[in-house]
Amino acid sequence: MKLWGGRFEKTTDALVEDFHSSISFDQRLYKEDIRGSMAHARMLGRLGVLTVGEAESISSGLQGILQDIQTGKVEFEVGAEDIHMNVEKLLTERIGTVGKKLHTARSRNDQVALDLRLYLREEIDNTKDLLSDLIRTLLNLAEEHVETWMPGYTHLQKAQPITLGHHFMAYVQMFLRDLGRLKDTRKRLNVSPLGSGAMAGTTFPLEREAVAQELGFDGVTLNSLDGVSDRDFALEFLSAASILMMHLSRMCEELVLWSSGEFQFVVMDDGYSTGSSIMPQKKNPDVAELVRGKTGRVYGDLFALLTVMKGLPLAYNKDMQEDKESVFDAMDTIHKSLLVVEPMLKMMQVNREVMAAGAKGGFTNATDLADYLAKKGVPFREAHELVGRLVLHCSKQHIGLEDLNLEEYQGFSPVFQPDLFQAIGIEHCVRARRLTGGPAPETVSASIRQSRDILQNLIW
Ligand code: ARG
Repeated sequence: MKLWGGRFEKTTDALVEDFHSSISFDQRLYKEDIRGSMAHARMLGRLGVLTVGEAESISSGLQGILQDIQTGKVEFEVGAEDIHMNVEKLLTERIGTVGKKLHTARSRNDQVALDLRLYLREEIDNTKDLLSDLIRTLLNLAEEHVETWMPGYTHLQKAQPITLGHHFMAYVQMFLRDLGRLKDTRKRLNVSPLGSGAMAGTTFPLEREAVAQELGFDGVTLNSLDGVSDRDFALEFLSAASILMMHLSRMCEELVLWSSGEFQFVVMDDGYSTGSSIMPQKKNPDVAELVRGKTGRVYGDLFALLTVMKGLPLAYNKDMQEDKESVFDAMDTIHKSLLVVEPMLKMMQVNREVMAAGAKGGFTNATDLADYLAKKGVPFREAHELVGRLVLHCSKQHIGLEDLNLEEYQGFSPVFQPDLFQAIGIEHCVRARRLTGGPAPETVSASIRQSRDILQNLIW
């Protein structure tokens, strides 16, 4: 007999039984569900809705179920639909009729909203740990590479020289913002929906605030309809997860490029690469590729839930049961990705010489030559045009700007003096960019220090 079976004359069709059951995936919420039920039962005991003895027997019954689930002694039933009714059914089997009092002044609608908030809060805390580990690793790598010269790109064409440290610090900024977004999501989700009931609250004088406090919430939801139908917190998490994956994916894409025979900027550790079943020479950056690939599924999770929610009339609708698989999948994916990317970065070998050589070619110092002229009073647009002609001249001869002699330079403009050669030296080009946020080693070092502080303040 179903827990809700009273008004039914026929049993649920076997196909429907399987179709609407969520226990296969929401059993993952057992801890949260039991924790919420215990707080609810204790509160009912305080109110006198349950006797002290009843509240205690419910509590210890739930405690036993928790232990048995943890030790794999419980077999969930598809027929009992979801984790909420599975736990309630087990409770009643174990402690008798008293178990049937647990659901007083509560609905699965506020119960599932509570469980999902508790789950996300805890898992976001785990994400914070993994993400801050990655940020720390990137900060350490940046520190190690403040003087590792490399070409910077726009349009994937060589643009201006920078350093690998500067490049890593770009990702640090992205991941710090991701951490901020998760922190913000956590703050907004941390209110208790218990007491919203099915959608119109309850006539029992529940101590909503006390239960919220006991469960570590900062407060309670302020509208019972919204309390059971809001999944913004899950969507905010999925959005933050999607943006985080996008950042990981861009970084991984660069590592795929950089480890190619064409770039040879980095060598992936053997432990983080795999081979080919036919081509004996192959060593593929699969880990980086897979992180890039898995980004798609997290975007999919976000879009699945956005689409589930978009047409729902207030308040709860069964469609919302679809929220959990998306959230779980995204959570698993970001955790696995963060876990594997951090050591992959640490283990990767950097070819400093190849990077430095790359920084030199491709006229990456052309802007500096134009700036040199502009500093001597030539209008920048004219300087740009003149250097453009110099680049054309050199590229026809397959040489760099630094390979021309002063005489040749002066043939283009009398403004050129011997100091031009210093101005277009690759190291100088980088060292001279000292503005906040720039690639000069001392500037990057300052930004590393600042970013360490920002990280420290962001962590909760
Ligand atoms: N398994 C449901 C879910 O995940 C729990 C809430 C069901 N409520 C209901 N009235 N059918 O959303």
